[in-house]
Amino acid sequence: MLNKKLNMPNLVDAPAIQQPNIFPIEWETETKELQDLYEKAKKEQWNASDINWNSLQAKDFDDIQKIAISYWLSVLATFERATPVFAKALIKAYETHAEQPVKFLFSTLVFDEGRHEECCMRCIDKLCPLFPWKWKPRNTFEENVLKAINWIYYNGSRYWRAFSQAADVKYNLSVLFTSFMMAESGATTIFRSMAERAKHPVFRDVFISIHRDEARHLAFTWYLLKKRLPSASIEEKTFITKQLRAGFVFLSPILFEPISEFWKLPEGFLEIHRKMEEIARDAGLGVLTIEEKTKIWGNAIRAVKARIKQFNIPFPDMPEIGIYGEEEVEIKEEDIAFMGL
Ligand SMILES: [Fe+2]
Ligand SMILES: [Fe+2]
Repeated sequence: MLNKKLNMPNLVDAPAIQQPNIFPIEWETETKELQDLYEKAKKEQWNASDINWNSLQAKDFDDIQKIAISYWLSVLATFERATPVFAKALIKAYETHAEQPVKFLFSTLVFDEGRHEECCMRCIDKLCPLFPWKWKPRNTFEENVLKAINWIYYNGSRYWRAFSQAADVKYNLSVLFTSFMMAESGATTIFRSMAERAKHPVFRDVFISIHRDEARHLAFTWYLLKKRLPSASIEEKTFITKQLRAGFVFLSPILFEPISEFWKLPEGFLEIHRKMEEIARDAGLGVLTIEEKTKIWGNAIRAVKARIKQFNIPFPDMPEIGIYGEEEVEIKEEDIAFMGL
């Protein structure tokens, strides 16, 4: 009737949209906590430019300290280079029509991770400009440090190829979220502990700010997993167990020590890596000792284990930090579907 009055034609129905697709647009909100977390994410945004970078001065460190700190932050940047990782997850959330707060939260993660990487970049820029990609070593010691970081990046490239394939075809978001949750549990704990130990105010500011973001990321993973895990299939549960181990193994260079199950590193690497950590620690970066890492990360993982077991999901063995008697899982390159810090 109204159509006639307004002199409008009748339309045929639009064709069904082929999936996966980001259309049609829908703004479903199912989980209030996720909505609240998105509001929190907006409020807690911070600008890395506001950190007092001028107080971080190259003259306050000797040459070896500057290299060691830059080395450590370059290793960290491998895991903070999570912007493209979450960009993939963001697309997946849109294509699988996750509830709207999930999509919005991923958009904040994409930006947060860029900011974490920016902090690594800015610290290095102050202490050892152009490290490592255009940095020119002046002696054998420096050449070896550069080679060590290139080994880390080589392994990072293997991870990226495995992750891209897994994200594109193999796994659904809830499976991807499990290793992501492992990473965030580790990240939030380690950065808080580093902020407590760091001697320079810039390092403290960087780690405490990153810690705040990671705590939010961790909350995001838990809300989602709590919703999805009760209905996980047996097959998915097996994947999840594997992913818990994969997250642990992949993160090991930063949260523990590189585990050879994934990390292909040359002889002598570990010695250089340990030395760099030690020098960076003594220079006030707040790097934890291996004993502290084992204790702190061990506690974080035991908390994850308790939560995961509520959903009858077997937990993998992690003998490196004293978790035995669980499921024996061995990780191959293609199993790494983990998302980054
Ligand atoms: Fe994160
Ligand atoms: Fe991060």
